[in-house]
Amino acid sequence: MTTLDAAQLAWQTDDTGQLLPVSLAFDDVYFSKTGGLDESNYVFLSGNHLPIRFKNLKENQKFTIIETGFGTGLNFLATCLLWSSLAPKNARLYFVSTEKFPLTHTDLSLALQTWQDTPLKFWADKLICLYPLLIAGCHRLEFGQITLDLWFGDAKESFTQIHGQADAWFLDGFAPSKNNELWSDEIFNQIKRLSKSGTTLATFTSAGFVKRALLNIGMTVQKIKGFGRKREMLTAHFGDYYCFDAHKLSTSSQTIKTATVIGAGVSGLLTSYALARRGICVTLLDKTSPLAGASGNPKALFAPKITLLKDVKDHLPTVSFLYSQRFYQTLNQLANAEIFSQTGVIDFLLPHKKTHQTLKNLIDDYPNELICQTNDIINQQIPDVLKHTISAWIEKAGLIDTKKLSDFILSHPLINFKKFHAVTITETSQIAEVMDDFDNKICSDIAIICSGFESYLLDSQLFNPRKIRGQISYIQKTNLPNELKTPIKYDGYCAAFDDILLMGASFIRNNTNTDVSLSEHEFNLNKFNENIPTIAKQLNLKTCDLKGRASIRAQTPDYHPIIGQLFGKKRVFSLYGVGSKGFSFAPLCSEILAGLIFNEPLCISQNLLDKLSIHRKRLQTPINQNN
Ligand SMILES: Cc1cc2nc3c(=O)[nH]c(=O)nc-3n(C[C@H](O)[C@H](O)[C@H](O)COP(=O)(O)OP(=O)(O)OC[C@H]3O[C@@H](n4cnc5c(N)ncnc54)[C@H](O)[C@@H]3O)c2cc1C
Ligand SMILES: C[S@@+](CC[C@H](N)C(=O)[O-])C[C@H]1O[C@@H](n2cnc3c(N)ncnc32)[C@H](O)[C@@H]1O
Repeated sequence: MTTLDAAQLAWQTDDTGQLLPVSLAFDDVYFSKTGGLDESNYVFLSGNHLPIRFKNLKENQKFTIIETGFGTGLNFLATCLLWSSLAPKNARLYFVSTEKFPLTHTDLSLALQTWQDTPLKFWADKLICLYPLLIAGCHRLEFGQITLDLWFGDAKESFTQIHGQADAWFLDGFAPSKNNELWSDEIFNQIKRLSKSGTTLATFTSAGFVKRALLNIGMTVQKIKGFGRKREMLTAHFGDYYCFDAHKLSTSSQTIKTATVIGAGVSGLLTSYALARRGICVTLLDKTSPLAGASGNPKALFAPKITLLKDVKDHLPTVSFLYSQRFYQTLNQLANAEIFSQTGVIDFLLPHKKTHQTLKNLIDDYPNELICQTNDIINQQIPDVLKHTISAWIEKAGLIDTKKLSDFILSHPLINFKKFHAVTITETSQIAEVMDDFDNKICSDIAIICSGFESYLLDSQLFNPRKIRGQISYIQKTNLPNELKTPIKYDGYCAAFDDILLMGASFIRNNTNTDVSLSEHEFNLNKFNENIPTIAKQLNLKTCDLKGRASIRAQTPDYHPIIGQLFGKKRVFSLYGVGSKGFSFAPLCSEILAGLIFNEPLCISQNLLDKLSIHRKRLQTPINQNN
């Protein structure tokens, strides 16, 4: 699957005169003509005994539903409504759904018009607001305590990539006679893989082959009265008995209540935040101060590295950009501050060896809302753009204010910052202990190493990454040309904000010195002068007037971060090696790490997860630290 085909719809009216979408490809309705919401409630919610199961959940407990066809999202919305009225405030719902032919944003908005005068409106409006671009792969959308993972692509393929276990299944394809691939053995085998004892299932159909397939994978199946005019439907469950007691659901991670995170750069800050959002009490340590390392430049550029659209779903820079973009937008709302400024970014696509036509095709494949060719309006505003035969305009990109990000996270009531130089980490069967050189000790249920390029010093099994020194250069100047208001990415980048022009950044391998250097100012200024010559000429900047900040990146040989639980340890985890893309990678990677710790569904493919693993093969061979 490379690109997605959107659903082709016709519109009918249901028995009450409301609009009802019909699939032209499958010649079937998305939900019942006699009351779609009632059908969802009856077939899927009651069929899985969700009212009592939600009510019986305990604080902080999680519940996972997996669905086969997302369609208009009606089942999801009905579940949100039930969850919000019955589940404890801090419990978390994961709703994982697949969709091969997603509705366009316009069609989704129209389809959900039907629920404008019902209690679903609140959730429907949120879904319309967060609905992702039609790009294959997993899109994680947050609705407070409810997380929706929308896997765009064929369910058969997506299910092989999903990590997690369902508490309940919604089997909701079109009629089996019209949509056989959604009712195939591959799907039933994945249902088995993604279930556990106590998992339940409900579906509107009572087809004999569906019943046999469920029996074949080891489920106990019941035929019950169907919705409305339908005579029968199926419900099923795994295990000898079915139990409504929430305590019998997943409890393994219930014992983790406290965590120590070592390093308060963007990796440590966002890991603390991911844990705190899950109700964990976090002590965040730094030997110096928050943002003392590579994360402490005043602004970070937030823009994707572009790849072919067909490769996007396992391509960390794009997957993390899409995730992090939504994440930062949400932070802006929660913080009521501009942590992320969506300025848009112009990308000169340098350095590249591709032909003009290849680059053009690469950009043109994408939805314009994500990436398009820099248009004539921008070309005229910034004449230097014309110098490049092709460049990209990335509307959703921008700048992160690192201080505002840090301030917001540190204000979380469950995150407590402490200046502390960690030297050793040990674990017992009960706790993880982090110690400094003076025998001061911090104890918690788990410890997480997020110490950038120095992470490997805290445990001998951790990979010693390439250290790459980088320096930004900046100058304070009033009346900076308006053209610079849009950050520009070349084989470096420049960005203007608050009367400051910032230029980045040098790359010096195997150097951990952090003194500011004149030669690196020259390097940054030369790149600026070469790439933006017209504006550079007007500004006529001098190296000696520049100020700077130098720090150290931690780079792995395959350019992927290191995420996971240390070998042979139960209580020690790590996230580092985010290279030169920390502000894109850290929001997603910290969410993945938290998901692994708490055995939650993950919002990336198994293929991509393997590329990030702390145990991956490439990390078994040390790198030569001298070249
Ligand atoms: C010049 C430059 C420009 C960059 N520009 C961008 C950009 O525009 N956009 C972007 O996305 N990325 C950019 N990057 C990359 C980005 O800054 C990094 O990927 C990111 O900051 C790494 O974050 P981190 O939290 O993993 O590490 P760090 O930010 O280095 O944090 C590690 C922290 O751990 C602490 N620590 C270490 N050891 C211990 C210990 N034993 N005990 C307690 N604390 C400890 C350190 O004091 C430090 O604060 C740039 C990097 C450089 C160098
Ligand atoms: C009956 S509709 C689902 C209705 C939906 N649950 C709702 O609440 O609106 C079935 C959905 O399955 C999707 N579908 C069909 N074949 C699929 C496949 N192979 N993989 C993923 N989704 C598929 C269809 O595009 C359609 O959206």
